[in-house]
Amino acid sequence: MKRALITGGAGFIGSHVADALLDKGFYVEIVDNLYTGLKKNVPGKAVFHEMDIRDAAMDEIFQEGKFDIVYHLAAQMDIRKSVADPAFDAEANIIGGINLLQMCKKYKIKKVVFSSTCASYGEQISFPAPESHPQNPASPYGITKLAFEKYLYFYLKEFGLKFVILRYANIYGPRQRSDGEGGVVAIFFERLLAGKKAFIYGDGNQTRDLTYVGDVVNANLMAMDCDRCEAFNVSTGQETTINSLFDIMKDLTGSNQEKIYQPPREGETMRSVLDSSKIRSSMEWRPQHDLQSGLAKTAEFFRAKILS
Ligand SMILES: NC(=O)c1ccc[n+]([C@@H]2O[C@H](COP(=O)([O-])OP(=O)(O)OC[C@H]3O[C@@H](n4cnc5c(N)ncnc54)[C@H](O)[C@@H]3O)[C@@H](O)[C@H]2O)c1
Repeated sequence: MKRALITGGAGFIGSHVADALLDKGFYVEIVDNLYTGLKKNVPGKAVFHEMDIRDAAMDEIFQEGKFDIVYHLAAQMDIRKSVADPAFDAEANIIGGINLLQMCKKYKIKKVVFSSTCASYGEQISFPAPESHPQNPASPYGITKLAFEKYLYFYLKEFGLKFVILRYANIYGPRQRSDGEGGVVAIFFERLLAGKKAFIYGDGNQTRDLTYVGDVVNANLMAMDCDRCEAFNVSTGQETTINSLFDIMKDLTGSNQEKIYQPPREGETMRSVLDSSKIRSSMEWRPQHDLQSGLAKTAEFFRAKILS
């Protein structure tokens, strides 16, 4: 039985990765400090450690875990928090990340799969952005994720630690949080289904490359067999405006709310769309969900959540 450690496995994406690895017959351990993650997201069959990735006790987890692969998803991922408190962001994403890499080196882990982000590109200058797009992040969050990518190249060169970097577009799906800096899909669903006002910031013409969480999970599974220690975008390559997203979600929820516009949010990216041809050709990954089908699955989750 193969053994996997998932950091951030109580979070939105990490808990889906955990479910999928367990379905494939993996033994799974999760480290998460429940900063934004929820205990109820942790699958019953996974061994759970409520722990910060900076903790020295990570050593014991690695010593006993004998992991074949590490999926690193734990992160401070709130862009505005990273602007307000860049040191806190760097503590979790860089110092925590280095602690993890030191463990991987010490216990000779075969591969790390890292969840990186479109935020590492900053304001895009070409659309869709390929992996070779300049990486000039517009936030401390984007900087720390990019920094960790660079550490991966260093640990490969110096210590032979293999990796795959997955740079996600905007991910949505069941279990995404709608509070704090939650994703736009989660916020719209919770508000529209509960009959509350959902606001559009700016003119609604800003675009996002909305990618379903199940497709991100597949990319994580495929990455374990990929021998190329490189970065791969995980995205649909389709741009959707917030206005058209609102219209689709309004239909799906049966809401009669008209669009309500608010002043634009400072520092918000106007266009975001990633080119996924590299992962399509090298891993034969394809998104299995278009926006309609992904949103329909997500709506089921939020309906059930509101009823419970
Ligand atoms: N959701 C997206 O659209 C998106 C896009 C690009 C990249 N990502 C990346 O994917 C990963 C997962 O994101 P998510 O959307 O599931 O977010 P999430 O907040 O649900 O998951 C992150 C998890 O990490 C945990 N965590 C945070 N700091 C920690 C620490 N110091 N020690 C241990 N655990 C810690 C949190 O409690 C949480 O469970 C992150 O690395 C994020 O940067 C997400």
